Amino acid sequence: MDNETLLQYAKEAQKKAYAPYSRFAVGACLMAEDGTLFTGCNVENASYGATNCAERTAIFKAVSEGYQNFAKIAVAGGEGKEHTFPCGICLQVLLEFMPEGSVVLECSGKIREFKLSELLPFGFQL
Ligand code: THU
Repeated sequence: MDNETLLQYAKEAQKKAYAPYSRFAVGACLMAEDGTLFTGCNVENASYGATNCAERTAIFKAVSEGYQNFAKIAVAGGEGKEHTFPCGICLQVLLEFMPEGSVVLECSGKIREFKLSELLPFGFQL
């Protein structure tokens, strides 16, 4: 699956975001190593700390369906915002399941791909 299509799926998932508090909608599309796709959106809560980010929604969906190895994740965040990097918690969760994987984002109208290791060079590992 090419990055452009992956990002398009992330934008579709972004439309499903439940973000009445921040009004910051995020969508993600995660690709497993075998090419299977899982989308996710952020799901907020009146108790703000209970909010789940789009990236983790996609990962948790996938892991709960029996997938544990992923190649990349595309993320679309904000309205008219050029790029949204995954937050630190999501990077740490991504590290668990795709240490060699990459993150796809739109930057200045261009689709860019970053290795997870560039975004989280010193993640926690046991
Ligand atoms: N959010 C994500 O979905 N992914 C990130 O990587 C960062 C932040 C969400 C959480 C919250 O619903 C909103 O964006 C504002 O922080």
